[in-house]
Amino acid sequence: MPVHTPEILMQNQVGITRAARILANGGLVALPTETVYGLAADARSDTACARIFAAKGRPRFNPLIVHLSSVDQVADIAELPDPARALAAAFWPGPLTMVLPLKPGHGLSAMVSAGLDTVAIRVPAHPAMRAVLQAFGGPVAAPSANPSGKISATTVNHVVTGLGDRIDAVLDGGPCTVGVESTILAPGPHGTRLLREGGIAREDLEVITGPLLTDTTPGKISAPGQLSSHYAPQAPVFLNMDLTDSAAITVGFGPGPGRFNLSATADLTEAAANLFGILHAADAIAAGQPIHIAPIPETGLGRAINDRLRRAAAPRDQA
Ligand code: TXA
Ligand code: MG
Repeated sequence: MPVHTPEILMQNQVGITRAARILANGGLVALPTETVYGLAADARSDTACARIFAAKGRPRFNPLIVHLSSVDQVADIAELPDPARALAAAFWPGPLTMVLPLKPGHGLSAMVSAGLDTVAIRVPAHPAMRAVLQAFGGPVAAPSANPSGKISATTVNHVVTGLGDRIDAVLDGGPCTVGVESTILAPGPHGTRLLREGGIAREDLEVITGPLLTDTTPGKISAPGQLSSHYAPQAPVFLNMDLTDSAAITVGFGPGPGRFNLSATADLTEAAANLFGILHAADAIAAGQPIHIAPIPETGLGRAINDRLRRAAAPRDQA
């Protein structure tokens, strides 16, 4: 039993005001976003940001995403060059994060950017998150609300199980509808780089950006947090498996066998929303058995799903 349980806040005026108050007092509160739950703190406070790194066990070199309630707030913090402006107009609020050049006098804790001269910014769409951001009024740093390297949280239960004894409160906004983290882009004068596949399909982004640049150097980490092993269950994970007659804990996709199924109708949006919940559930019953996962198509949100699954299956000693 944890020695300390966090306050569970409801998605109503009392809960939203309380969450904003905890942030203003330098506390840690897990907040729902449409992608995954975030572990939020005042992005201007060194001590509050230090508590994020401590609670997650996150390496200090891995910078945090800053969440804002509207695109108008970016001007105080970072440059928004033309390609980024067009992306903001098309996809904010929503599951897009952009890495932008910091402006002098930005006011953020140095821990947010981990010494880089850029900052990752996102305007999320979840109504509870937006309401807390508005009530708080300032920039909110929030990595995913899971212990570093472990499976991300898409429900309040996942948050409480992973971090419950290390945070002040969690606001229950229901299960996350997108289910994988935001897509991270770095717009630049010579094109836009894709740093992390995520909740907006590459095909939809490329309508605005043209072909995205990707870093194909093997083993090269483009966003500092993109370690090979991540999203890791306790159980070993095997991908692209034929599940027929498998004795493992099986996770299917589309019609066919599987103790769990990411989407019986082979719908990638539904599969993304189910991904982390099914990994948590499969891990909870695995008891030493491996988890076998059916092939997922490498299109649309399937790219983000496969990215997460490859890291979940990666050798753990690289974490
Ligand atoms: O959907 C999401 O993005 C969720 C919700 C809570 O907003 N957040 C999230 O945060 O996934 P986190 O900390 O788990 O992942 C943030 C990623 C890390 O890989 C980090 O290295 C990268 O963003 N990042 C942050 N600042 C960066 C920067 N200035 N340059 C390059 N990468 C950056
Ligand atoms: Mg994360």
